[in-house]
Amino acid sequence: MRVLVTGATGFTGGWLARHLIRTGDSVRALVRPASREAADGLVSTGVDVQEGDLSDAASLAAACKGVEVVYHIAASYRAAGQPASVYRDVNTEGTRRLLAAAEASGVRRFVHCSTGGVHGHIEHPPATEDAPLAPGDVYQETKLEGERVARAAGASGRVEVVVARPIGIYGPGDTRFLKLFRLATGHVMLGAGAAYYHLTFVEDWSKGSVCAGRCRRRQGGPICWPDADTRRSRSSSR
Ligand SMILES: NC(=O)c1ccc[n+]([C@@H]2O[C@H](COP(=O)([O-])OP(=O)(O)OC[C@H]3O[C@@H](n4cnc5c(N)ncnc54)[C@H](OP(=O)(O)O)[C@@H]3O)[C@@H](O)[C@H]2O)c1
Repeated sequence: MRVLVTGATGFTGGWLARHLIRTGDSVRALVRPASREAADGLVSTGVDVQEGDLSDAASLAAACKGVEVVYHIAASYRAAGQPASVYRDVNTEGTRRLLAAAEASGVRRFVHCSTGGVHGHIEHPPATEDAPLAPGDVYQETKLEGERVARAAGASGRVEVVVARPIGIYGPGDTRFLKLFRLATGHVMLGAGAAYYHLTFVEDWSKGSVCAGRCRRRQGGPICWPDADTRRSRSSSR
């Protein structure tokens, strides 16, 4: 499949783009001009780099051309001290612009990377995706707004939308949890070991995202993973 990945110069999107290449997709990455150099490693793996920005609708139209599945991973996330308007422009309006470009280009499926942070603080753990939505800061608020924009586009029927909410992604290349892991001399225990915070290994996340992009939709029903065929083949291989 020909796919587009946003955020491929970042930690999670970079892993996903490489995973998609390894598993046979033709991958285009939307890369900001200022990050062109950071994308050299992607180019050497076969990723087609397309310069653009979530704030630039024309660049998004070009990036979506001929694409079947969009993996929208980019977000304003790690950079500290940004005004709320930057988060909103990237996470909310950037998602809206990208969806409009995807729909106009006839993209079949849009996999939207949200965050478990849309639930904010969980009063009564463990939680499921039905837990109350209570974002605790502007990043989480704008991620929820982006998610709502994506869901509305999915409900319109113009494009299939899958929203995923990862929690605490870690693995090689991540510098956020690395700060914590560097302090540890042995095993890392969060709290007394009874915490429900479930970190996500980045390779597992990549595999899950690809499932979200490739699994088939049941006629008129929701997009489910594992789909019926996969469930059958798993149970017969047990
Ligand atoms: N890491 C976690 O623990 C975690 C947990 C839950 C959810 N998430 C979600 O996972 C996704 C990826 O997170 P990450 O940790 O991999 O973040 P990251 O390393 O900071 O990567 C962010 C990516 O977004 C791109 N980007 C930012 N603004 C952009 C714009 N205006 N136009 C185009 N691209 C833009 C960045 O490009 P540049 O290289 O040019 O800056 C970078 O490639 C995000 O959606 C985040 O909300 C992450």
